[in-house]
Amino acid sequence: MSGCEGCASASPDGTCTSSTGCDKPEDQKLKRTLGRIKHKIVVMSGKGGVGKSTVAANIAVALSLAGKKVGLLDVDVHGPSVPRLLSLKGQQPHIGDQVMEPVPWSKNLSVMSLGFLLQDDRQAVIWRGPVKMGLIKQFVEDVMWGDLDFLIVDCPPGTGDEPLSTLQTLGPTAMAVIVTTPQGVAVDDVRRSVSFVGEVGNRVLGIVENMSGFACPDCGKVHYIFKTGGGEELAKESGVQFLGRIPLDPAVAESGDEGFPFMKVHRDTATGKAMEQIIAPILALPDPPKA
Ligand SMILES: Nc1ncnc2c1ncn2[C@@H]1O[C@H](COP(=O)(O)OP(=O)(O)OP(=O)(O)O)[C@@H](O)[C@H]1O
Ligand SMILES: [Mg+2]
Ligand SMILES: [Zn+2]
Repeated sequence: MSGCEGCASASPDGTCTSSTGCDKPEDQKLKRTLGRIKHKIVVMSGKGGVGKSTVAANIAVALSLAGKKVGLLDVDVHGPSVPRLLSLKGQQPHIGDQVMEPVPWSKNLSVMSLGFLLQDDRQAVIWRGPVKMGLIKQFVEDVMWGDLDFLIVDCPPGTGDEPLSTLQTLGPTAMAVIVTTPQGVAVDDVRRSVSFVGEVGNRVLGIVENMSGFACPDCGKVHYIFKTGGGEELAKESGVQFLGRIPLDPAVAESGDEGFPFMKVHRDTATGKAMEQIIAPILALPDPPKA
């Protein structure tokens, strides 16, 4: 951010003290964009590889199939995976005068990812914090999202620049969905994510325990081979909602690899029903009061 000079809400050290967002003229654009988005949901986790992108993409697809207008924003600048998960690799957003059109996945779901703008998958992106902050803000305000019921944001692992910038850009009404696996170590990381979200001044919408039990392709049931319930315990302990558990399911990995989101093709399986359960409270979120 370029600092808060000139803004009535700036503190002497130049940081923003406004709880409703910045009043600077250049932030009016951001405010206008955010005003057209009913719910902002940021999917994150302290830990890598727990299924954040998979969960984010499937939430977005399921909401769009339920008739909601959805935007999916991938802010993982080092390893964007949303284009692959949705078979959109190689697509290019249309870039106009200071605006970018998101890439449509369907009539109801549009997608933006740095992956669309990189020439090559292996191209390393080495950006420092302030640049990432600017990029994330641009991805929100310079992309023509239009009127959305939901903007779902997929974050890279950790509690670093990207989730911080994302929450700061989206403002205090954005809510976090924290993904974890059942193991104790993952749960410790998630505990950190929960306090991080609170420190930034946002709310945790809920916790998802992914890779919990094994969805058996032979009998169609979920077998609980290892201990489960870490995510649920943590939710209870931190007073946040437990959204549910998703089993480890070879079909989830396969659909991700092939770019057919699970919720589009396997809705009626045990895993599909588990995902549906997680999405139900998100679908039921009441409309925010009109500004
Ligand atoms: N419930 C599941 N069952 C089987 N495989 C899964 C499940 N959830 C995720 N996976 C697989 O695990 C791998 C990691 O998932 P994903 O990329 O969504 O994690 P991530 O948390 O976004 O990772 P990163 O931290 O690198 O961004 C992928 O290959 C994905 O297909
Ligand atoms: Mg990811
Ligand atoms: Zn079985």
